[in-house]
Amino acid sequence: MTELNLEEKAALTSGAGWWHTAELPGVPAVRMADGPHGLRAQTEREADHLGIGISARATCFPPAVTLASTWDVELAARVGSALGREALAEGVHVLLGPGINIKRSPLCGRNFEYFSEDPLLSGALGVAWVNGLQAQGVGASLKHFAANNQETRRMTVSAEIDPRTLREIYLPAFRRVVTQAAPWTVMCSYNRLNGLHASQNPWLLTEVLREEWGFGGVVVSDWGAVVDRVRALAAGLDLEMPTSSGAGPAQIVAAVRAGALDEAVLDRSAARVVDLARKAAAHARPGAVYDHDAHHALAREVAARGAVLLKNDGDLLPLDRAQRVAIIGEFARTPRYQGEGSSKVNPTRLDDALSALAPVEFAPGFPVDDPAADVAALREEAVRVAAEAEVAVLFLGLPPSYESEGYDRDHLDLPAEQIELLAAVTAVNPRVVVVLANGGVVRVADWIGGVPAVLECWLGGQASGSAVADLLYGVANPSGRLAETIPVRLADTPAHLHWPGDGDLAPYGEGLFVGYRSYDARELEVSFPFGHGLSYTTFTYSDLRVSGLTVTVAITNSGGRAGHEVVQVYVGAPRSRVRRAVRELKGFAVTFLEPGQTQDVTITIPREDLAYFDATADAWVVEGLDYEIAVGASSRDIRLTTPLRVHGDAAGELDLDSTLGEWLAHPVGGPLINELLARVRTAMGDDYPAEGSPRQRGVANMRLSQLGSLPMVPIGEDDLARLMEGLRGTAAPYLS
Ligand code: BGC
Repeated sequence: MTELNLEEKAALTSGAGWWHTAELPGVPAVRMADGPHGLRAQTEREADHLGIGISARATCFPPAVTLASTWDVELAARVGSALGREALAEGVHVLLGPGINIKRSPLCGRNFEYFSEDPLLSGALGVAWVNGLQAQGVGASLKHFAANNQETRRMTVSAEIDPRTLREIYLPAFRRVVTQAAPWTVMCSYNRLNGLHASQNPWLLTEVLREEWGFGGVVVSDWGAVVDRVRALAAGLDLEMPTSSGAGPAQIVAAVRAGALDEAVLDRSAARVVDLARKAAAHARPGAVYDHDAHHALAREVAARGAVLLKNDGDLLPLDRAQRVAIIGEFARTPRYQGEGSSKVNPTRLDDALSALAPVEFAPGFPVDDPAADVAALREEAVRVAAEAEVAVLFLGLPPSYESEGYDRDHLDLPAEQIELLAAVTAVNPRVVVVLANGGVVRVADWIGGVPAVLECWLGGQASGSAVADLLYGVANPSGRLAETIPVRLADTPAHLHWPGDGDLAPYGEGLFVGYRSYDARELEVSFPFGHGLSYTTFTYSDLRVSGLTVTVAITNSGGRAGHEVVQVYVGAPRSRVRRAVRELKGFAVTFLEPGQTQDVTITIPREDLAYFDATADAWVVEGLDYEIAVGASSRDIRLTTPLRVHGDAAGELDLDSTLGEWLAHPVGGPLINELLARVRTAMGDDYPAEGSPRQRGVANMRLSQLGSLPMVPIGEDDLARLMEGLRGTAAPYLS
């Protein structure tokens, strides 16, 4: 850094415009653009981060919600590579994505930009996406770090999260992507985390991100997230974006001159920005082009793969070309295919379902974001058209105004006029297929009973229209699986009582119990569980085998069509000494099978993924336990289970201060302590607390060391010492 003076170094740590960093002799500018499902490359004159200004045309791939529903890491990597090719062609060096925040509540207005309620699924897709992108020589910006789970007061709200929940739910996807894909940049979020803005949080940006996870890239602010530039730099925020028109650099220079900021801190961040700039320039390919048709075809493939067939009574789908089909709903003609805000893409072309399905009878049925429309007249026309058809396909969904970056929803329902239309149509024609377009989950419980088939297409990107036609006519076989639960009621959602917080305090009171972890623990009925999705074929599961931590299962396509199955491996720890979800997703794989074909699917669970976070010890702990491996087609459609004995990290989890109850519950400590207790039982005779009695529960709360001090208990210090030795020395069976 010796070749740059103080002002130059400070200038490097702040944007020189809306979308690029400063250019200095020998240091080229880095150009950035949103976003996760398509390039939003803007000139500086049109610049905005709200999705208002125009951007260069680019393929609008299906947003994260749809990509996630494919559960297919290979597909995510292909989307990442395609985005990389488009970025190269536009001269963009860093793409502002992926967004991997956890869907804490279905109300979050930005859920369409995020993958899942589950950290493993979010992280695994993020890894693949980033690897695909960066293999092209374009950097990712992993966002929004961290705990940016709501839009309400997103600039000021403090996510109040206990350490275990933070480590097990909100950080693991970031950790996975940082450690397995090394994104060039990480974008800090707007919100505060336990009181401190993410942009100036040294624990988050330095201790965890760099020191624990080994992140070596640039930390960039979300656009306008910096509050105090000097504190932010000291905390580890290298690059402030967008430009602060010189204010940030001036504050840094003044702080260094006043001795309030060590120049070495600035040197470090400036050096990181220089590295990024040189790397970006080395990979740039001026004049590069990409294949628009191939990218459109990929967008169509992802849209078809990510659609989730929620219900298909009587095999109403796929449709038969000979059937008289009525298409109803404005979204068939005017597709809802992406969300609002900074991720909004100007598509290279746009397929609508109506054209893709033509010739068909059509009625718009309801208005979209048009308060002046004659709703009753639209409905009457649609009912007339539906009554004359053999099958009515209703394209329902959320209008653009319902969900966007910048604000949250306050309910989960479809617009009332759509629900009324559906009721009116089913009254004249029960053979109804509902095709949904929405970025966040919608409530279906009130109406789904009267509808035989529902295809949840999320937001399908620019080729959504043709993809839906492929699915309806069976050219494509639905293979999407829910990456988030569809609850029965808003009041059932895990964060309900705490959402969106009081003023700027958002307590994450539901703790670890997010998504299916909560519904399962509370034994709540859901409309459709995490992992659910039907197909036009069927799959059977057999021959579950476990060797070490490798799970193998045979999957057979037992139906009449080729199709993809998403095999899901959940793990439960019913005898854990800490509170745990009933079961958690620990692995998954997609397999494609021809009718009658059988294939072994093998999934290996990394041992560290079994760990829980011990907040007291500030460490991850793998418990020695008999875990339960559950393999299924959804979190509530478990087909095969088997126990799996895993040895613990260290028998030292127990010590003399552990309670008798903890000793008894421990797989190694339990048998050892029972031997000792047998002596106590003999000595105490009838005074010994009966099995299951309240007194016994009271005794279970005693520390082990207290046992030796009781006058009637024949246990001495040497017995306890031997017990500890035995614990440490016990090899089998948990160390096998
Ligand atoms: C969003 C980011 C986005 C940035 C730049 C912000 O408002 O939160 O996700 O990358 O703008 O457009």
